[in-house]
Amino acid sequence: MTSTESIPVRDAIRDLRASRIAEISALGMGDPDVIALWYGEGDLPTPDFIGRAANAAIEAGHTFYTYKAGLPELRSAIAGYLTGLYARPTAAERILVSSSGMSALMLVAQALIDPGDNLVIIAPIWPNIAAAVSIMGGEPRLVALDPVPGGGWSLDLGRIFAACDTRTRGIFINSPGNPTGWMISAGEIEDLLAFARARGLWLIADEVYGRIVYGNRPAPSFLDQGAPEDRLIVVNSFSKSWAMTGWRLGWLTIPPDLLPVMEKLVEFNTSGSPTFLQHAGIAAIREGEPFIARFVARCRAARDVAIDALQACRRVEVARPDGAFYAFFRVDGIADSLAFAKDALGRTKVGLAPGSAFGPMGEGYLRLCFARDPRIIAEAVDRLRPLLD
Ligand SMILES: Cc1ncc(COP(=O)(O)O)c(C=O)c1O
Repeated sequence: MTSTESIPVRDAIRDLRASRIAEISALGMGDPDVIALWYGEGDLPTPDFIGRAANAAIEAGHTFYTYKAGLPELRSAIAGYLTGLYARPTAAERILVSSSGMSALMLVAQALIDPGDNLVIIAPIWPNIAAAVSIMGGEPRLVALDPVPGGGWSLDLGRIFAACDTRTRGIFINSPGNPTGWMISAGEIEDLLAFARARGLWLIADEVYGRIVYGNRPAPSFLDQGAPEDRLIVVNSFSKSWAMTGWRLGWLTIPPDLLPVMEKLVEFNTSGSPTFLQHAGIAAIREGEPFIARFVARCRAARDVAIDALQACRRVEVARPDGAFYAFFRVDGIADSLAFAKDALGRTKVGLAPGSAFGPMGEGYLRLCFARDPRIIAEAVDRLRPLLD
């Protein structure tokens, strides 16, 4: 790895640690024998009708700069979609289209975090929101969920509230959670909203896995209860539900008075999301429900294969997640999950993400993305079994 010691960049950037997930993928990328389950994406291509909509938009000449907040038609389609899913209506004036969920998180960090501020983040957590806060010179303050015996996680709200101080700008909640699959309850959302209102804090809810759930209803959402005037930001993405990870398209639901601020930031970040991709986004929202249903059914089958096989391994502790598409399992006796993931890749050609990538409380765990053909997941756990028994 090249040393960055002598390159004159900001301290906050020089000190950023490269993703530990990328450390593993760099070792195995391109090897056809590797079953790569390190990233958070499925193996299905983007549905054809979405690709056709993008092509048609290019042919129709939708290749110019456009509105910073996104195409009005896409914002309306998203608002209608959210209104159909959740208990409270969402107006199109609250929607800001972004160039991915990641870009949405960076916009949030840019808007809220001054150097020295902190963001309280419920963890274990996908590392990128913490990195965005660090890039702004802030402190990502990770507060752990409690592991439940037998696998699974629970939230101690008292500890979240106790972690907030005068430099706290907000609380970050990712539910359904990556990597844990943990899902917040309606009661916990209510308590968080009450606390944030009383303390003047922002709530940032990352709901990119909101549709990847294995019960009968959408995951509890902050949009069920939040009012437009709440200091509430809900992050979403086209990546997961519509198999569009490479498209880099997402959106934020924000209070209407934050919109002009965010439009300014979009101007100086991307100057707007690609116009023809936004037309494809409209097609995804309007015609995507059958695809989502098929994708979730496939993930559910793969989840059951993964969890049944992992639970049969003597040293593994794991619960069946109700949302997202990860098995986050603890392996008895592991002190260094990065070393374990490297060793597992070398010996079994299965690519996992090390638990330590998701915060210190993830040490001792591995994350396996099961958004695959269930037969591939069966093969992967079979290969891993000698290391887990
Ligand atoms: C919790 C969470 N939030 C946001 C994202 C961002 O997704 P994207 O940038 O592909 O829209 C991801 C992607 O893995 C994620 O896991």
